[in-house]
Amino acid sequence: MNASLRKFIFNDLQTVEGYIDPPDALVYLSLLQAQDKAGMGGGVAEIGVFYGRSYYLMKKIVGDAGKVLAIDLFDLGEAADGTPTQYQRFLDYGKRLGLTVDQDLVIKGDSTRLRPSDITDRLGRVRFFSIDGGHMLGHVVSDAALATDALAEHGIIAFDDTFNPAWPEVTVGVADFLRERADTFSAFCMTKYKTYVCRRAFHDVYYRAIREAPDLAAFRHVDTQFLGSKTVRLHNPMGRRMVYELMVHAGMRGLSERVYR
Ligand SMILES: C[S@@+](CC[C@H](N)C(=O)[O-])C[C@H]1O[C@@H](n2cnc3c(N)ncnc32)[C@H](O)[C@@H]1O
Repeated sequence: MNASLRKFIFNDLQTVEGYIDPPDALVYLSLLQAQDKAGMGGGVAEIGVFYGRSYYLMKKIVGDAGKVLAIDLFDLGEAADGTPTQYQRFLDYGKRLGLTVDQDLVIKGDSTRLRPSDITDRLGRVRFFSIDGGHMLGHVVSDAALATDALAEHGIIAFDDTFNPAWPEVTVGVADFLRERADTFSAFCMTKYKTYVCRRAFHDVYYRAIREAPDLAAFRHVDTQFLGSKTVRLHNPMGRRMVYELMVHAGMRGLSERVYR
């Protein structure tokens, strides 16, 4: 297991306002490290950064040598002069974590208006693409197509909020994506919040990486058939989730990591 990265995930990262929880953070860690081990290079990109919780996770994992591209409207919040506060808060969290944002690798704008070359010119081909931007069908369709066109052969796309009843169109968009590209793409992992897909030729590589990852050993690995491919569903029992939440609320973040060993 990765003691210092796990400490970062369970302590530091939880102080950044945002949405990625430890189970998916451990999946990001396991997949990026499996790619490193196999020499599968490339950049990392995210649509939907918010204040940077998943962005800083990826930054921390890939280190100084890696490139992480941030794409967001950055139009949230409002300062006294009416300008949005999101971008400054995003940068401030980075300073607090000791992680620097490479501002040449930030695109402020609507992801649905980007071309693949806007990404590949800055980053080269992408090995890991986190999609967590607009949550309506049009956004998901457009972001998935953009990610596909910028992806390395061995690239992974992580779709957020799949099967969340609050965002039904994400579910539709991801299912459409997998059905329309059934000959090339397949899902290999699902968590409570995210679905992870890759090109079919790499399905078994990533399926095994999830099955064998030491940092994911705490989860029950359940084989699930999803649109023609064997997908590992990482089940996180209610009991463990409750113990974790109680520990966090009791100020025991440092110890909460043990719950996921
Ligand atoms: C759920 S938040 C992302 C959470 C983040 N990944 C985290 O780990 O905390 C969604 C983000 O998507 C951004 N967004 C929404 N629509 C977008 C669009 N069309 N283009 C780019 N970003 C968009 C919003 O500004 C917001 O910051």
